[in-house]
Amino acid sequence: MAPGRSKFSNKFGFIAAAAGSAVGLGNIWKFPFEVGKGGGSAFLIIYLLFCFVLCYPILVTEIAIGRRSQKSAAMAFRPLGHPEWSIIGILGVFCGILILSFYNIVAGWVLGYFVEMLLGNFEIGQHFGEYVNDIAEVGGYTIAFLIATAYIVSQGITKGIEKASKILMPVLIAIILVLTIYALTLDGATEGIVFYLIPDLSKLNLNVIYRALGQSFFSLSLGLGALMTYGSYLSRKENIVSAGAMITVADVGIAFLAGLMIFPFVFSQGIEPEGGAGLIFMTMPGIFESMGPTLGIMIGSLFFLLLAFAALTSTISLMELPVAYLVDKHKVKRKNAVWYAAALIFLLGIPSMLGNGYSGFFTNFITYIGAEKPVNFMDFVTDVASNTLLPFGGLMVSIFAIYVWKRRKLFRELSHGHSSFPKTFIAKYIGFSLQYICPLVLGAIFVITILEIFFGVKIF
Ligand code: PHE
Repeated sequence: MAPGRSKFSNKFGFIAAAAGSAVGLGNIWKFPFEVGKGGGSAFLIIYLLFCFVLCYPILVTEIAIGRRSQKSAAMAFRPLGHPEWSIIGILGVFCGILILSFYNIVAGWVLGYFVEMLLGNFEIGQHFGEYVNDIAEVGGYTIAFLIATAYIVSQGITKGIEKASKILMPVLIAIILVLTIYALTLDGATEGIVFYLIPDLSKLNLNVIYRALGQSFFSLSLGLGALMTYGSYLSRKENIVSAGAMITVADVGIAFLAGLMIFPFVFSQGIEPEGGAGLIFMTMPGIFESMGPTLGIMIGSLFFLLLAFAALTSTISLMELPVAYLVDKHKVKRKNAVWYAAALIFLLGIPSMLGNGYSGFFTNFITYIGAEKPVNFMDFVTDVASNTLLPFGGLMVSIFAIYVWKRRKLFRELSHGHSSFPKTFIAKYIGFSLQYICPLVLGAIFVITILEIFFGVKIF
């Protein structure tokens, strides 16, 4: 252990924080609408495959790199003897800042909706478009959320990140279970479940694969060094392989539950599930309204509280990326670093905030070559940062681990806290996936999607 480096107090603290990072708006807000867009279960199957075959081995590797080097993402490659790879860590920090800039705005909407639900204002769902354009209001909630995030991160690893996650995660799991059980009792639940679970493989195309891949990396907080950074605060006593499995199962499990909750709600109202980013913001308030005022207020505010908690444990891990960079690299005091990062993130978020209108520069921000319609700034950042750069980061991590750092050293690090690891089946599985499947699949999808999605080259 590097002397003086903060540590999570135990395995549970680490898992709470890392699962907290993974479980977020990605699971409860983004996952259902991506499933909706990707034709339901076709998307689900591809997503699950990616999570277990590609992401889990990369997740374990990221944590191992962080723990071995005792440094946050941007600095982690140097102590392992490969400073030229730092570029990957720096790209990760950059990606984290970009993702947080828009993520925080959606978290602001969530906070605002929580208040509206408490006030019984169910009409809000029909005015989502106007709501997100109310820059003063959305901006206020966004700043509030950013301050909450910054405050927790400023308190450090154990007293800030770990403590918040240990409180928020169990509450979140309790809320989602209650809401899912309730949703399953509604009329229309079966239709929702059929849409969600019965595969229609005719819906499968490159775009679905591209989005499912981005979603799996985004949802597991992979490819940008967030878990590398958390790994650098993990003790050598702990078993990364089993902790990583728990984090993956928790994340996938909660995304799966979120689908089981949302689709019955959506179908019970006869709504089309292809609503895009606004899906839950537009449809859920009406659903809560139909429950009658008292129950509606209760379930409605509980739902948005769930989202806010999920978002918070993710925003703190995103903010920890630039903060740990400033602390580790430039010896900035944590308490100051947090506010520099917050200010930068807020400024970068402004175009995303402005781009959700019906017109304007950031709304029709860019039209990819060969595409029919322009995308707004937030979608553009999502495509670049989460759908493209995260899988690319994962690709680089897998290549680094096996071909540069070498499997032997990776396995040695994974054996701390799990001495029989190299002899297990799981070791072969992780090694095989990192050596062959990740580079091939991620490499191929990276090249194909850049050409097809951004440059309109027709390959399939
Ligand atoms: N995993 C988070 C979510 O699903 C988002 C996130 C991405 C957090 C990358 C950290 C790093 O909402």
